[in-house]
Amino acid sequence: METKASEKGHLPNRLGIKGWVWGGNYTLERYLYTLHRLTGLGLLLYITLHLAMNGFRLGGVESWEDLMSVFGMSGFKVGEYLVAAAFIFHALNGGRLMLQHLGYTLGKPKPPVYPYVDSMRRRRPIVWVMLASIMALAIYVLVAFVT
Ligand code: HEM
Repeated sequence: METKASEKGHLPNRLGIKGWVWGGNYTLERYLYTLHRLTGLGLLLYITLHLAMNGFRLGGVESWEDLMSVFGMSGFKVGEYLVAAAFIFHALNGGRLMLQHLGYTLGKPKPPVYPYVDSMRRRRPIVWVMLASIMALAIYVLVAFVT
C-alpha cells in the first residue's frame, strides 16, 4: 500500500509545480528564487547545446564555418546576451545565497516584539546591493555587445 507523504513525516506538496512560480504572499527573495531556478536550468541547457555544437569541429573546417555563419545572425546575438545576463544574475544571486546559507548577512535574531520584522525583510540590504551590481554588470556587458 502507498504511504502518504504526511505519514512519512513530510509535508504534502500541495502546490505542486505551481509552487515554483507562486508560493504565496512572500517577499522579493521568493521571486529571486524562481529566477535562480530558471536561470540555472537555462544555463544548463546552454552548456549542453554549447558542448554538442562544439562537436561540429569534428566535421572539419567547412561544417564548422557553416555553423558559425548561422550563429552570426542577429537573433543569436540577442540569445548570447540573454545567456550572459542569466549568468550574471545566477552567479551574483548564487553568491548571496551561499553567504546566507552559511549564516552571514542574516543579522542578529530579535525578540518577537510587535510590529514583527521577519528575517526576509531583515536581510534586504544585501538584495539591493546585489540587484544594483547585476544591473551595472548587465549594462556594461550590453554596451560591450553593441559596440
Ligand atoms: C559563479 C557561478 C555560479 C554560482 C555562484 C552558482 C550558485 C548556485 C547556488 C548557490 C545554487 C543553490 C541555490 C539554492 O538552492 O539555495 C545553485 C543552483 C543551481 N545552479 Fe548554479 N551557480 C553558478 C553557475 C551555474 C552554472 C554555470 C549552471 C549551469 C550550467 C548552474 C546551474 C544551476 C542549477 C540547475 C541549479 C539548481 C536550481 C534549483 O534547484 O532551483 N549554476 N547555483
